[in-house]
Amino acid sequence: MDGKQQTALVTGGGRGLGRQIALKLADSGKDIVIADLNPEEMGKTKRMVHDHGQSAMTVQMDLREEDDVSDTVEAALDEFGAIDILINNAGIAGPNLPCEEISIDEWDNTIAVNLRGVFLMTREVIPTMKAQEYGRIINISSVTGKRPVSQRSPYAATKLGLVGFTRSIASEVGEYNINVNAVCPGSVEGDRIERVFKRYAKARGTDEESVKRSEMEKSARGELVKPDSVADVVDFLCSSQSTQMTGQDLNITAGKVMY
Ligand SMILES: NC(=O)c1ccc[n+]([C@@H]2O[C@H](COP(=O)([O-])OP(=O)(O)OC[C@H]3O[C@@H](n4cnc5c(N)ncnc54)[C@H](O)[C@@H]3O)[C@@H](O)[C@H]2O)c1
Repeated sequence: MDGKQQTALVTGGGRGLGRQIALKLADSGKDIVIADLNPEEMGKTKRMVHDHGQSAMTVQMDLREEDDVSDTVEAALDEFGAIDILINNAGIAGPNLPCEEISIDEWDNTIAVNLRGVFLMTREVIPTMKAQEYGRIINISSVTGKRPVSQRSPYAATKLGLVGFTRSIASEVGEYNINVNAVCPGSVEGDRIERVFKRYAKARGTDEESVKRSEMEKSARGELVKPDSVADVVDFLCSSQSTQMTGQDLNITAGKVMY
């Protein structure tokens, strides 16, 4: 693939980690397809990608919907002719509740976005990646799937589920020069983790600052993860320096989780 203009499709690229990953991949010369529910936020990411010197397109879509996913891939192929990289980033935090208080709708919706959406998108891009005999698929998992965290059971189930999905798909498509890896961030600085801390504080009957401090103290480096650190690892997994890495799940936690 050296020398060829590459295209990366980033789900949930409208904000947060997805935006950071989109900009990092733009910096390493990729054109970007941003697929997200939220048109305003996507528009901002698109302008930022242009400022980073690359082409970008946005597709408003809902990952849970099979037709939306196939329309997104079709639109990306019409515009750029290829999808070389798929970043399955979009995800939701799900409820912060003890198991017995979780409704079926809350459970199903977390699975629908975090697992079914990843399956649908992966299923849709594999044929084009196989045909071009090149692909890089990165699933954004979470260490919340690996370490025990109470009151997050639907989220934890989806994120560890993604590790199994990553390994299975990696073994299916490796011979086509398609690598499939997962990254597992710890608590990443930003709006979303502040919202999660707020919910933890409520559930634990404490304040947000104490939750944040205790999360930071759990890491070897005593800090939250910077979005740019996650984007750097994703960029590495999309580069020629990681050609023989597939089926892996890489923790980016400032040393909070070491397994
Ligand atoms: N922020 C963290 O601390 C953290 C830690 C570990 C893993 N992660 C994972 O990283 C990913 C991104 O997290 P973030 O913090 O940037 O989240 P975020 O909530 O800031 O952004 C998620 C994006 O996904 C989009 N989205 C949500 N549901 C969608 C759907 N059904 N269809 C299309 N788009 C949809 C949203 O519109 C939003 O733009 C998630 O998978 C999350 O689980 C985040």
